[in-house]
Amino acid sequence: MNSRNPPAGTVFLAVFSADLEAACAPTGGLAAHLSPAEAQSARRFTRAGDRLDYMASHALFRLLAAHRLGRGFAETPQLEVTRRCAGCGSTGHGKPAVAGASLSLSRSNGAVMVAAGPEGIPVGADIEHIPDTLHSGFDHYVASAAEREALAPGDIPARLRLWVAKEAVLKAAGLGLSVPPAGVHLAGSPAAEGNCPVLRADSPAHSQVHGLTAVFLPAPPGYAAALSVAAPTTLTRLSLADLLPPLPAA
Ligand SMILES: CC(C)(COP(=O)(O)OP(=O)(O)OC[C@H]1O[C@@H](n2cnc3c(N)ncnc32)[C@H](O)[C@@H]1OP(=O)(O)O)[C@@H](O)C(=O)NCCC(=O)NCCS
Repeated sequence: MNSRNPPAGTVFLAVFSADLEAACAPTGGLAAHLSPAEAQSARRFTRAGDRLDYMASHALFRLLAAHRLGRGFAETPQLEVTRRCAGCGSTGHGKPAVAGASLSLSRSNGAVMVAAGPEGIPVGADIEHIPDTLHSGFDHYVASAAEREALAPGDIPARLRLWVAKEAVLKAAGLGLSVPPAGVHLAGSPAAEGNCPVLRADSPAHSQVHGLTAVFLPAPPGYAAALSVAAPTTLTRLSLADLLPPLPAA
């Protein structure tokens, strides 16, 4: 597949930040795919790992946007990314967008994820590293009463699956964590591993969220990832080779 032949439906990638950095080296590195403002923002991160994740997430976002729009990988810095907060209407923060596609990005502790779908059909992507421990208030912040009852004590991966599914839905809605996750109930089996059904958000108090769906996606080992798309579309997993030129023969 090349950049002039993008697939229809919704596409996604979830990769280690270091792998993207290595894959971008022949094209000038991650910085070659950022806007000047993003390159400047990256400098504000004091921890090298956080800076790498930030740069990788925005480089991957632009590479996927270029792919989606049938543009070349070298055009990534010029793509105009706008923002809008669905909560307060500000264009200074909130969900990023590029004309012609619907997009979402996420990063967590060494891995990044992006998704792109048809314009006008909101998508929300979320990836999280599965930690060894969780803070004591996690269940009450994230899970509805029914979800709390279904969670087995100490099952951290199940809790992270619930978290990414809710964040994906809230990001598709453009509201993010301005809506408390525990106020959204996911009908389905969010605690189940493997081939999960589509989860449906039940949140009558938030019309933008109510009825949105989420599915779990393959993620790098040690991570959980989910995607929400506001209308049924096909889902295709891309690889870095779909977005970047082939490496020169050794
Ligand atoms: C968006 C949010 C859910 C991110 O959570 P996270 O797990 O820490 O971070 P992730 O890496 O998964 O996602 C971060 C990306 O989500 C995107 N994002 C930001 N706000 C968003 C929103 N309202 N809806 C969808 N996506 C959003 C951005 O691309 C952001 O990365 P960037 O700032 O570098 O561009 C959380 O930070 C949040 O809810 N922020 C907004 C809170 C809010 O709306 N406050 C009220 C403002 S009026």
